[in-house]
Amino acid sequence: KFMGELMGLNVLEEQLKGKLQAKKVLILPGNSDEHDWVKREMGRACVTFLQSIVKERMIIAVTGGTTMAAVANAMTPLSKNGDYLFLPARGAIGEKAEDQSNRIVTEMAEKANGDYRLLYVPDPLSETAYQTLVKEPSIQDVLEQIKSANIVIHGIGDAITMAKRRKTSKEIILKLQSNTAVSEAFGYYFDESGKIIHKVRTLGIQLEDLVSIDHVIAVAGGKSKAKAIVSYFKQGKSDLLITDEAAAKQILRG
Ligand code: G3H
Repeated sequence: KFMGELMGLNVLEEQLKGKLQAKKVLILPGNSDEHDWVKREMGRACVTFLQSIVKERMIIAVTGGTTMAAVANAMTPLSKNGDYLFLPARGAIGEKAEDQSNRIVTEMAEKANGDYRLLYVPDPLSETAYQTLVKEPSIQDVLEQIKSANIVIHGIGDAITMAKRRKTSKEIILKLQSNTAVSEAFGYYFDESGKIIHKVRTLGIQLEDLVSIDHVIAVAGGKSKAKAIVSYFKQGKSDLLITDEAAAKQILRG
């Protein structure tokens, strides 16, 4: 029965790859909306994949959220020398402290015996502060490293769920609702067709930077994220999606 289930997931992976036009898809059994262990398994699958691609001196940029926290939780040394650097992909965008990328990269680096650097950016960031901070040498230094990342790992969220969780202003929530935003990733909000509806102003990786990054890994599961995943993949060119069975089946039904 177990082998049968594994083979079943392989078939789902092929179908999902076609549907999302993704280069590679990995599906873990279960529904992470209902069981925490499913998110932990996605985290472990991500770490195993990282071990297969990581090379010395690589830079790994990571976003925030509970799924990225699960990846950090599953982190182990990725190679013998541990010669790699973890960085937050962007400045903070309203997440709780434990789910912020600065905290997540610290845990990842500790567990992987790697290095990390943090990006200290006020949250939210005003236009004036943004213009000043981008010119700050210490910040420019980290930003340059972020832009030269070899690997980016990120979550995908449901747009309104994410906006509310981040205590987004009423104005912006209205803007998201009236433009029927469906998904969120990297602090960008997208509608069903993948169009950008809103972008949180912060420093770090911008969507267009992803094109030149070798490995962009999305980790997102749960039946409730099906629409969000489809919407994100209309715009975001991630190379690998790690998801769960419930999200995959819901996407293929839609
Ligand atoms: O950017 C996407 C969100 O960070 C996803 O958050 O992993 O807690 O669902 P989550």
